[in-house]
Amino acid sequence: MKQPRRVIAITGAGGALGSALSRQLAGEADTDLVLSDISRSSLQETLDALRAPDATAPGARVEDLTADVSDAAQVQAVADRAVERFGRLDVMISNAGVLNPNGRIHNLSTDDWQRAFQVNVLGAVNAIRAAVGVMRPQKSGSVILTASVAGLTAWSHSAPYCATKAAVIHLTKVAGLEYARDGIRVNCVCPGTFLSSIHHGLPEDALDAIAAKHPLGLGDADDLVGAYSYLAGRASRWTTGSAIVVDGGYSAR
Ligand SMILES: NC(=O)c1ccc[n+]([C@@H]2O[C@H](COP(=O)([O-])OP(=O)(O)OC[C@H]3O[C@@H](n4cnc5c(N)ncnc54)[C@H](O)[C@@H]3O)[C@@H](O)[C@H]2O)c1
Repeated sequence: MKQPRRVIAITGAGGALGSALSRQLAGEADTDLVLSDISRSSLQETLDALRAPDATAPGARVEDLTADVSDAAQVQAVADRAVERFGRLDVMISNAGVLNPNGRIHNLSTDDWQRAFQVNVLGAVNAIRAAVGVMRPQKSGSVILTASVAGLTAWSHSAPYCATKAAVIHLTKVAGLEYARDGIRVNCVCPGTFLSSIHHGLPEDALDAIAAKHPLGLGDADDLVGAYSYLAGRASRWTTGSAIVVDGGYSAR
């Protein structure tokens, strides 16, 4: 029997990692994509990259929509689009995330905390909820959340980011347990630092200091895609509740 094409949804698809993931996965066999981002212009850049002459996405069909991951209805619309257009959803990649302004805890506002939790934690919860609504009847699926090494190690001046990424790692474990019997795997990736708009405005010496903590140097978004590709595919069929660290050796110290 012919296998159905694989359908992958990616949030935050307009960012550095979201774009790298979109380009990689669009080039994999029999794969269609539903790409979303809160920013229409960033999303358009990813769509343009997929349509560039050197893109390796020969057969991929791509749907796109703007969606704010902190709003459950908008993430539901991402899953709904996958079903309406392609009839299924096999992989949900929760990639959208925000890094707060730097500050010690007493200098951070309630708004700073709420924004970090709404995007980084509630965004991941909304992705799980929308995905399992489709995947449970299918009895199969893979949900991939995006944490960070900041969820494993403490960074001063970044409490909301560290706390929310730690929450994503623990959410991954609970969701992995809860949905295993439904045939749904839930894992997360913990990237080390790779250059993206998250670092805009950081002085050069601050970036040098971060780079020095990575034995293999600063990463590039393309350095992360292999882990997501593994978790999206059959090779990871016995992996759930896991946090996969891809960090250039950062956390080995
Ligand atoms: N860059 C790094 O060093 C690094 C390290 C570890 C983890 N991460 C994580 O990787 C993920 C991708 O980050 P990136 O570095 O590519 O950053 P990025 O800023 O390039 O991309 C993030 C994307 O998310 C989108 N976004 C922000 N808020 C959103 C919302 N509420 N709803 C929907 N989309 C929203 C942005 O528009 C942007 O396109 C994030 O979860 C980030 O925390 C990044």
